[in-house]
This record gives sequence, structure tokens and C-alpha cells, in this order.
Amino acid sequence: MAMLQRLAQLSRRSASLASSPFAASYAARSMSTKMTPAAAIKAMEGLQSKLDDAMQKMMQEKGDAFSKNEFYKMVDETPELKEALSKYRELDMDVEWSWARIRSMKAGPLTAPPVTVTVTGAAGAIGYALLFRIASGEMFGPSQPVNLKLLDLPAAQPALKGVMMELNDCAFPLLKSMTAADDPMKGFAGCDYAVLVGAKPRSKGMERADLMKANAEIFSVQGKALNAVAPKAKVTVVGNPANTNALIASANAPDMNPDQFTAMTRLDQTRAEHQIAEKAGVTVEEVDRVVIWGNHSASQYPDISHATIQGKWAKEVVTDEAWLKNEFIPTVAKRGAEIIGARGASSAASAANAAVAHVRDWFLGSDGRWVSMAVPAVGDFGMGTGIFYSVPVVCYPGGVYKRVGGVSIDPASAEMMEKSRLELVEERNAVAHLLPK
Ligand SMILES: NC(=O)c1ccc[n+]([C@@H]2O[C@H](COP(=O)([O-])OP(=O)(O)OC[C@H]3O[C@@H](n4cnc5c(N)ncnc54)[C@H](O)[C@@H]3O)[C@@H](O)[C@H]2O)c1
Repeated sequence: MAMLQRLAQLSRRSASLASSPFAASYAARSMSTKMTPAAAIKAMEGLQSKLDDAMQKMMQEKGDAFSKNEFYKMVDETPELKEALSKYRELDMDVEWSWARIRSMKAGPLTAPPVTVTVTGAAGAIGYALLFRIASGEMFGPSQPVNLKLLDLPAAQPALKGVMMELNDCAFPLLKSMTAADDPMKGFAGCDYAVLVGAKPRSKGMERADLMKANAEIFSVQGKALNAVAPKAKVTVVGNPANTNALIASANAPDMNPDQFTAMTRLDQTRAEHQIAEKAGVTVEEVDRVVIWGNHSASQYPDISHATIQGKWAKEVVTDEAWLKNEFIPTVAKRGAEIIGARGASSAASAANAAVAHVRDWFLGSDGRWVSMAVPAVGDFGMGTGIFYSVPVVCYPGGVYKRVGGVSIDPASAEMMEKSRLELVEERNAVAHLLPK
């Protein structure tokens, strides 16, 4: 896994060689190939990106079945790639060696093709906490340039302009371009990743059903737009009700694979991790495999049955069942409301942090760690299909995730999970008119 991640990270960057110590040895080598250093560097980058693209493609197709030997076999059987590899070897001694060296270099001028990410609701509170972290490299990595496409309502455009001025004022080296739009067809055009934050907030006296309907319309329009102008995009829904909004967007994007859509339950996961770490008196990194099942709502089930704390079973460390049932689960499930009560506003910075972590892992891989994401139910865990249900997944570099299989479910957990499933089915029924058959 570590090798896969390393190779994939390499494949995503063709880090600049020009300003590096490598350039010196490169220049020496280029003399033997009778090329100027600059020409040699350029040639090497071109060849490398050809090989990188092939590696990315293979990794996307094969997920964790990807192996380096298989990659080289495929290169050997593809004349264009074989030629690229042989020229690459003429320019440098050894591909593996140069990859490792490029990987270990600090990023110089950044020449990898930018990732284009659309953020909706960009002028809102979460948008404000999120955009600067994307532009600084926290979402896609410290050597990965980004194009930002910012989508918000017409009335929010003046505020969005102000946010863009601030982004410019930061002079982020990774931020290659930035555009604003109020039309989803423009805002999503050509994006690789989309983070759908923008949603209608619940106003005073508004019924949950009315909120659901208002948001359902937004996400059906956005699903259609994604289908038309960004059919390869990987989509993360943050705006509430997140699971059902993801279902609506996906159902309105018939040319896209439902697996391209996810809804965010990462904030619930990090909330749960903190609660457990505090209770056990350990650091958060020592807590692993906390799972969020179900809906991003009060019906969710934060589960530590499979978790470990400092490598021991969490249930053997946190043995206070009453605390788990009466404090831990309700605190995590109702944390959003508690924060609104305390702050007078919905969680924004922590939600943005979770969005960074969710997309980062989806793009770069979770390095074997379990992370929770609401994804299309496929019938495992008795969930049926036709809803977006949060489950543990492991992410692999390049936008691949796989459900964790073989997780045993005890009767108490099954009951909690079923409660959340029923709520999602109810939500789905409430927006059935927006789900094309
Ligand atoms: N999944 C989670 O863990 C989680 C956590 C916190 C908040 N949320 C949800 O995220 C959403 C955004 O929260 P916020 O605090 O940023 O709200 P906010 O009200 O501050 O900002 C929302 C932004 O979305 C914009 N918007 C509304 N409709 C839009 C549309 N059709 N297209 C594009 N933009 C549109 C608004 O103009 C506004 O700028 C809410 O639905 C909130 O409940 C989810």
C-alpha cells in the first residue's frame, strides 16, 4: 500500500527539476545526451507525464490490485509507452531512482497539471474556512497546483468577489486560476472534484420537509449540470441533508457512476475520535477505526465496536457502557445542534476541516486507514440500495475508495444502523419526485 501511495503521489506530480539540486546532476547527464540542461529537463518531464498518465489510468482501473510489475508489463506491451520509457532511461539512469529522488525533493516551481475543483456556496461560512486551505495545498497536496471555480447565488457574488480578493492577496503559489460563477453549467465546467457546500439554511419556523424540498431542487439542478459539463468529476456533498442531496445529485447525473458521488460524514468521525481520545486519555492519533454508520443527522450511529486505542480493542479500554450509550453517541450525533446553541451559527471551520480530510483521502489515499463516507448503498450490511449510507471505506490514490468488508455487526449495532437506514428511506420518499426513474 505504501508503495502504491508513493507511486501515485509521484505520478500526480511532475515536480519541477529546474530549481533543484537534481538539476546539477541532470545538467551533467544532459551533456552526455548532447542536450542543454533545460531541454533535457523538459524532455524528461514530457516523458514522465506520459508514463504518469498511464500509471494513473491503470491505478484507477485496478484499485488495490495494481502492481508495479503489471505496470511495467503494460508499458512493455504498449509501443508508445515503451519508447517513452526507453528515452526516459536514456536521459536518466533509472526510473525508480529518479522517481524516488523527485519525490524526496522539496517542491520547486510547480509544473504538474492543476486539479480543477469547484466549490459551491463559496461565499458562505464553510466556503470561507475551506477555500484558503484548498489554495494552500492542504486538500490536494503541497505540490499540486489547483484551479478554483467558485459557485454561489447571484446575490452572493459581491461577497464572493471579496473572498477572491483575499485569496489573491495570499499569493498562494499553488493557486493557478480562480473564477466565479452563478450558473452551475459554468461553475462546474471541466472540474475534476466538486465540493457541494451551498444549500438553503433552515429558517425560523421552516419545516424539515420544506427544507428538504428546497435543497432537493438545488441538488437536482446541480446533478444535471455536473452530468453535462463535468461527467468525470468526483463529488463530495456537504450541504444538508447531505446523504439525500448526494442521492438526488447522483440520480440526476445518468452518465456518471454513482460511486463518483459521496456525502460527508467525516466531521462526525473526527468528533467521535476526539470524544474517545479524551475519555481514554490518549491522543487522537492513537484512536483508529471509529466508524460512522448511516445518515449525517441525529440518527447516525458512531460505532467503536471495531475501533482500536493504542492498538488495543477500544471496547477493552473504554469499558463504561453507560457513557458510550448515554453520552458518547448522543454527543456526537447532536454536536451540530450543540455548536449552533453555543456559537449562534452552524459549525464552519470544523466542517471545512472535514471536507479537506475527506477529499484529501479520496485523492491521495487514506494509507490503509478506515474513513467514513456516505456512499451509494450496494446491499451490504442489510442496507438495500437506493440510499447514500455512511460506511467505513479505505481510499486509494487517484480517487478510488473501497468499502471495508467483513465487518461483523452485533445486534445492538444492527438496531442503531437500521434506525438511520429507515430515516434515509423516509428522506428518499420525500424527494421521490426529483429522482428520475
Ligand atoms: N456535512 C456536514 O458535516 C456539515 C457540517 C456543517 C454544515 N453543513 C451544511 O453545509 C451547508 C453550508 O453551511 P454554511 O455554514 O457554509 O452556510 P452559509 O449559509 O454560511 O453559506 C451557504 C452558501 O451557499 C450559497 N447557496 C445557497 N444556495 C445555493 C445554490 N443553489 N448554489 C450555490 N450556492 C448556493 C449561499 O448563497 C451561501 O453563500 C449547510 O447546509 C449546512 O447545514 C454540513
